Amino acid sequence: GATKPLFGKTVLVTAGPTIEKIDPVRFLSNRSSGKMGFAIADEAAKMGAKVVLVTSVDNLKAPHGAEVVKAESAADMYEAVMGRYKEADIIIKSAAVADYTPVNVLDKKMKKQPGNIVLELKRTKDILKELGEKADKPFLVGFAAETDNLEKYALDKLERKRADMIVANDVSRQGAGFAGDTNIVTIFKRDGSKRELPLLSKHETAREILREICNEIEKDGGK
Ligand code: PMT
Repeated sequence: GATKPLFGKTVLVTAGPTIEKIDPVRFLSNRSSGKMGFAIADEAAKMGAKVVLVTSVDNLKAPHGAEVVKAESAADMYEAVMGRYKEADIIIKSAAVADYTPVNVLDKKMKKQPGNIVLELKRTKDILKELGEKADKPFLVGFAAETDNLEKYALDKLERKRADMIVANDVSRQGAGFAGDTNIVTIFKRDGSKRELPLLSKHETAREILREICNEIEKDGGK
């Protein structure tokens, strides 16, 4: 219907930062608050979708009826998403996932030592890229958080990660990206088209992203 265009669809959304442990009291993370992803989850639920929200964030309100799956690290998020992707018609990856995680997680608090220390990091698995390689992949939406060359990097991610859509935000712009209640995004699609949205609230941005997804899925005859 017109008001519940996602009725009957399952939307899996990832939101917020990942948390990579160094020791029991320290971690590596980033400035994501989860607001963008929670806004998407909320608007998807309003459009009638069944929502699965994979997140480390517990200080924001998940939409009523959503299944919330707690995932702290990039490895947790990988497990949670790969274990559930088959249930999803649409996956929207707004989480800010760590690209690197400590090689060793200490089980006791690290002690101060004289001089500098080196923290060795290893690459995490790229969840979006792995989803893109699945034969039975759902409609896949990635985000791109950039500080320069927005279009070039977004198109590169669309191609390399075989996503159906990339939502790019220039996180160096005032009013865009991390933590605030607004965003400024450009939506890149497989057909080469792009749509620049103005400064909008994260909820309005979420609605526009979901409308674009609905249009694409309709074109495909319900994917
Ligand atoms: O949470 P907020 O404070 O509201 O901020 C919103 C936001 C800025 C975090 C959001 O709008 C955003 O841009 N999210 C993506 C951040 C990011 O990690 O971008 P990236 O360019 O590093 O990653 C590209 C894509 O690959 C993303 O969809 C990411 O989820 C995915 N990825 C990245 C690494 C990895 N190991 N696995 C992944 O799936």
